[in-house]
Amino acid sequence: MGCKEEVGVLSRNVQDGSMTPEAALEAKLGLIGCSPADVRCFLSTHPPPSRLLPGVEALVKTLQARGVAVYLVSGGFRELTLPLAAHLGIPKDRVFANRMNWQADDETGEATRLVGLDASELLAHAAGKRKAIARIRQKHPYHTVAFVGNSLSDMRAVEAPGGADVFIGFGGVEHREEVALATEWYVDGFRPLARGLARYKVAMIGSGAWACAAAHMMAQNTAQHDLADEFLTDVTMWVHDEDYKGRSLVQVINEEHENLKYFPGCRLGPNVVAEGSLEAAAADADLLIFCLPHQYMLGVCQQLMGKVKPGAAAISLIKGMRVQPEGPQLISQMVRRYLNIDCCVLMGANIATDIAKEELSEAVIGYQNLDHAERFKKLFERPYFRITLLPDPVGAEMCGTLKNIVALGAGMVDGLGMGPNTKATIIRQGLSEMREFSKALYPGVHDQTFLEGCGVGDLVATCAGGRNRLVACAWTKAQLEGNAKSFGTLEAEILKGQKLQGTLTSDEVQEIIKRRAWEKRFPLFTTINRIINGHLPPKYITNYIEGGAMEIPGTTSSEEDH
Ligand code: NAD
Ligand code: 13P
Repeated sequence: MGCKEEVGVLSRNVQDGSMTPEAALEAKLGLIGCSPADVRCFLSTHPPPSRLLPGVEALVKTLQARGVAVYLVSGGFRELTLPLAAHLGIPKDRVFANRMNWQADDETGEATRLVGLDASELLAHAAGKRKAIARIRQKHPYHTVAFVGNSLSDMRAVEAPGGADVFIGFGGVEHREEVALATEWYVDGFRPLARGLARYKVAMIGSGAWACAAAHMMAQNTAQHDLADEFLTDVTMWVHDEDYKGRSLVQVINEEHENLKYFPGCRLGPNVVAEGSLEAAAADADLLIFCLPHQYMLGVCQQLMGKVKPGAAAISLIKGMRVQPEGPQLISQMVRRYLNIDCCVLMGANIATDIAKEELSEAVIGYQNLDHAERFKKLFERPYFRITLLPDPVGAEMCGTLKNIVALGAGMVDGLGMGPNTKATIIRQGLSEMREFSKALYPGVHDQTFLEGCGVGDLVATCAGGRNRLVACAWTKAQLEGNAKSFGTLEAEILKGQKLQGTLTSDEVQEIIKRRAWEKRFPLFTTINRIINGHLPPKYITNYIEGGAMEIPGTTSSEEDH
């Protein structure tokens, strides 16, 4: 409108504190005095790309791809800002700017001349940006709000109450020494900001069969070009170190890129880096993946207490639970409690050997924090590994835990030489008890969860081809042949160091059943537990109703338990 110089003086007056932002804006409007036609003309002669600094489009796209909500909070005018927001993919309800007030033509009622600002709009006030942020925060409980601004008055956006958490000084339009001096982080363009975005450091805590197959998938993803600005390429893997043919297992993995002892044949990728110290592996990790036999998890949590990065996110791939006198504790609960970080779970029909061969599988990520679940989905999802997000983390984890007991029953059926009808009966009764037991302990668990990949999907896969089934089958056959062997012996012979979870889980779950006198309510779980502990012969698997109802000294709930 030909008044750039005068408007510039007013802006500088605000900068040096000789004028309030409101007074300056009012004075600017008086100078500008534009019409709607002027606004239209400006918009058509200044399309968004001509008004954007290099790097801002890429930055906004990267942030949004990471799930970061981007807002445009401007002391300018909404009419001029909206086209920029649309170009950047920022929705209208995430734009906060001043609205113009127009003088209407007496005859036609049409807007003719700018006469001021809509005083109801927050941005007209000096503390407007802080108030806009407070309003955003009231509506959405974001954990951290960072504000990028270019003036000293913008810095008020971080003031209490309700302001941003972080201020980033921006000198990309005009370098302002006073802003550069007053801010801890000052940038001269958008590109340094994009480069400064933290890439997530990933640490796998565990190095057994599933841990290796999962690390193989993650390492494929972190090495992928399109995820390179989100995740650090290297995936650290904590290895419970031991000697392997005269070399340390850590050294073997780092040299051969394969865990030759626990999961030979699965190429980990050169970007999986084995680490023998648990604390060193977890230190600074933004994303912690827990995958180890559940009996070792308490020790791991105790060792890591107070040593993980605050704000890190965890996910548990572990199937199992801990039972204490005061009640059960899920592994994800243990992580939250000991490490004070959020913990999702990843559960599904995920037999490690088949995933290592890149055969199609699916899993759910059960979550409380959706941002974290989406991040983990990106980290794990592969064309051969499909992931669904499920807002029932407890249900998913209970499914993964309990199906290992049912798999023992399926193995007994195989060991007895019975066919698919019998196995289907065990699977159906097992699923029913899994649901009943989960809901008895955690009433909020969703019914639908049992029909997902973590429920019936995992149950079918484990009862068809898992390790619990395999060892229970061998154990049953050995009994029938009069050559009885313990589960521990067969675990060592058949699994060669990999660990069976079902027998431990059966004992843990039975402790809960016994304490509550639920034996008749969970006859299959009870019968399986009685069989593996030698109180009933394996053939009782087909007569689980009687097996669960029998009074067997030492296995039935006592007065004291009640
Ligand atoms: P695994 O059964 O292969 O167990 C071997 C691992 O245990 C090795 O890494 C070994 O170093 C470690 N280990 C041995 N002693 C230890 C100790 N004292 N402390 C810590 N670690 C020790 O392990 P996995 O297959 O990766 O299973 C981990 C979890 O994932 C289990 O809860 C399992 O139910 C679950 N899971 C397994 C599969 C599978 O197909 N293997 C699939 C889905 C889920
Ligand atoms: P097993 O431990 O019985 O092999 O089960 C693996 C599993 O959980 C597959 O989803």
